[in-house]
Parts: sequence; structure tokens; C-alpha cells
Amino acid sequence: MAFLSEIAMDNPSAISFASGAPAEACFELERWLKVIPRFQHDIAAARNIDAMAAGRMLGQYGRTSGLINDLIAENLLKDYGVECTPDRVIVTNGCQEALLMCLQTLCASEDDVVLARNPTYIGVTGAAALSGIRLYPLESNADESVASSFRRAVLALTLQGKRPRAFYLIPDFDNPTGDVLSVLDRRAVLAVAAEYGVVILEDNPYGMFRFEGSLIPPLAALDSSGTVIFLGTYSKTLCPAVRVGCAALPETLFGAVSGRLALAKKLRERKSFLSVTTSQINQALVGGILLEEAGSLARIVEPARRFYQTNRDVMLQSILAAFDDDRSLVKWNVPSGGFFLSMELPFSFGKDDMMECVATHGVIAMPMSFFALDGSQQNLVRLSFSNVTPEEITSGVERFARYVRDRLNTVAGF
Ligand SMILES: Cc1ncc(COP(=O)(O)O)c(C=O)c1O
Repeated sequence: MAFLSEIAMDNPSAISFASGAPAEACFELERWLKVIPRFQHDIAAARNIDAMAAGRMLGQYGRTSGLINDLIAENLLKDYGVECTPDRVIVTNGCQEALLMCLQTLCASEDDVVLARNPTYIGVTGAAALSGIRLYPLESNADESVASSFRRAVLALTLQGKRPRAFYLIPDFDNPTGDVLSVLDRRAVLAVAAEYGVVILEDNPYGMFRFEGSLIPPLAALDSSGTVIFLGTYSKTLCPAVRVGCAALPETLFGAVSGRLALAKKLRERKSFLSVTTSQINQALVGGILLEEAGSLARIVEPARRFYQTNRDVMLQSILAAFDDDRSLVKWNVPSGGFFLSMELPFSFGKDDMMECVATHGVIAMPMSFFALDGSQQNLVRLSFSNVTPEEITSGVERFARYVRDRLNTVAGF
């Protein structure tokens, strides 16, 4: 993050496709801040205390596991189809804290390993590195299903005396690839997880930003064996500054309620030392919005969803136009939602290339190798379309296409 903001600061006129931040134009802060009193009055009535006492209560530390667990449970059901009871929700400081707590709690011994698709979200790589936990990449072979490579990884690790404890993935509009896992793949992944007792950490920040096709149920909604912890966040549906997310636990852990209760206790203990609690003022803001919206953010998210869809369309049209003379130069996917598109280049593109590209052509593209767990992905870039205007997208893609051509011409000239 520091490196990216340095590059952006050193090249103020550059167009950046690097940041996966949501668009500020979609934040309705003035309106949202006004809902805190609504929450305050609601909780005052529920607890039979006066509004002033409820306001003071919001200023306190609060319960480790959170204040708005009931509203989050309702929201998970309405917006994601994930059934969860309030006592199974732990409110966290964004999804990042939920991720860190889960990794550290599930991987208590040196031999415990977490699996992840490759490439994967930098936040999980960082959280694992910070905790001294090994992240094992699933081989990304186009001919093999995710479930099959998951099974192979579990078997290989077990043979090495390791314990695969969790499998982290983003099945909807993946960061960084933009891909979606099919319902068949989801069911197959669940079966492998249940067979080998591996917890699935399902991260879902982009699920509400679907542009086409019908909703594929989250793994947590398909799970009948108690394998999935659903990691939620309000960073993209509302705004990152709320720093409110959650870990929603299954009813049983692999069939045992006692297993889930023990895990919940360990997670709460860990959270109490990581961050003590999640700001009750921030929870009141999220809770107030959920009260106003009757538990679903679908209405609030709709303008943002359309904004990202327009940007995705502009990016696809710009790519087609910019590579019109030779469409075989690059390959790209068509993400059906989310913030990211991936593109394959006819040469490798790493950190130095990224720096050169911004200095000479004024556009920042993110090397996919930054997200790789094994040094692979050398020819791929991630292009984010979430925090740019349509005009910037058109111009940025033109600049990037010029860079690709100039680079090929330079190579050919040698
Ligand atoms: C896949 C993924 N998980 C988690 C996060 C971070 O979420 P939060 O802001 O809730 O910590 C992001 C943010 O970019 C993300 O892309």
C-alpha cells in the first residue's frame, strides 16, 4: 500500500488501475452519519434505558463479540442467503481483523498450514506472514478443478507431516483475478473440506456487485457439514472507514456444536487482545443504516453497482478499441462483477516494468506477480476499474496499449 501511494504521489498525472478502493462518489456520509441517533434511540428502547444513557453506552468499549450481531445476522441472510444466528457472529474491525483472528486461531501449531488459490489477495498473504503461518498455494492449472487441486494439496501436505487447517478463497469476483467459482465447484470444494476437516474461510467483499448472471449461493449457504466461516465486510458496500466486518461461524464445526463454541471462545479471546473491541460508534453507524434499510443494503449498493458495471463496460470497450489492429496481442477475462479484470501480456511485467510504465506512459497497472504465492503470474496484470472515472479508463487503457506496443517494438528493434 505504501509503495502504491508513493508511486501515485511521485506521478500525480498518472492514471491508476492499481487501487482496489471503492469509489468515493458512492459514499453518502452526510446521510449515514445522521442514522447514529436512530440506532441510539432504538437500543435505548430495546434496553429500556433513556437515550442519553444509550449514547454514553456507545462511547464504552462494549462486548468483544460486538453490538450489532443481530442486525448483521439479518443482513447476511437478506443480502447473501447465509443463515446465521447473532451468537455466531463476531463483529470485527473490517474483514482484515476477522482474517487475522481466524488464521492465528486455526493455526496454533508450527505444522498447521493454510491453503489459498494462487494468485490471492495480498491481505491474507500479509496476515499469514505476520503470524508466521505458512500459506500453501493451490496449483492453478486451467485443466484441473479447484476442488481437485485442493484435494491434491491436502494429500501432499499430509504426506509431509503438515496439517492443512484452512482454505482461504474469494469465490465471488475474486481479488485479484475477477473470477467466479461455479456452483458445481463450490459443492465439490465443500465436499473435500468436509472429508478432510479443513475449515473454509470464505471472503466475500464483492458479492453484491454482480453485473450479470444470477446469484450463486455463497459456500456458507451451501454448507451442510459445518466447514465454512463467512468473512463479511461493510468496506465496499458502505465505505472502508467504518472498519466494520465480521466472522460468521457455522452452527456446528464439522458436526459438533461444542467445536463451534470452543472456536468462538478462542476467537473472542484473540480479538480481545488484538483490538479489544470494534468501535461501538462505528457499529452504531452500520447498525443505524441496517435499521433504516430493513436489513438489506441492496438499495444503497445499487448506484455503486451500476457505477462499477459502467466502468467495467468502458474498460472492456477501451481494450477492444485500443487493441483493435491486433486483438491477439493481449488476452483478458470478462469479469461478471466486482472491481478487477486480469490481462495477459506478451511479456513479463514486474515491479521495474510497472515503474517504467508509469514514468514513460503515465499509467499504473498492477503486476499479478504481486499477488502470487510462488513467483508465478509473470505475464499478467490486474486492472482495477473501481476508483477511476470512465474518461480515465479510456485514456488509461490507451496509454497502457501504447506501452505494450512500444515495449514490443523495443524488443523487436534489438
Ligand atoms: C478480498 C478482500 N478481502 C478483504 C478486504 C479488506 O476488507 P476490510 O476493509 O473489511 O478489512 C479486501 C479489500 O480490498 C479484499 O479485497
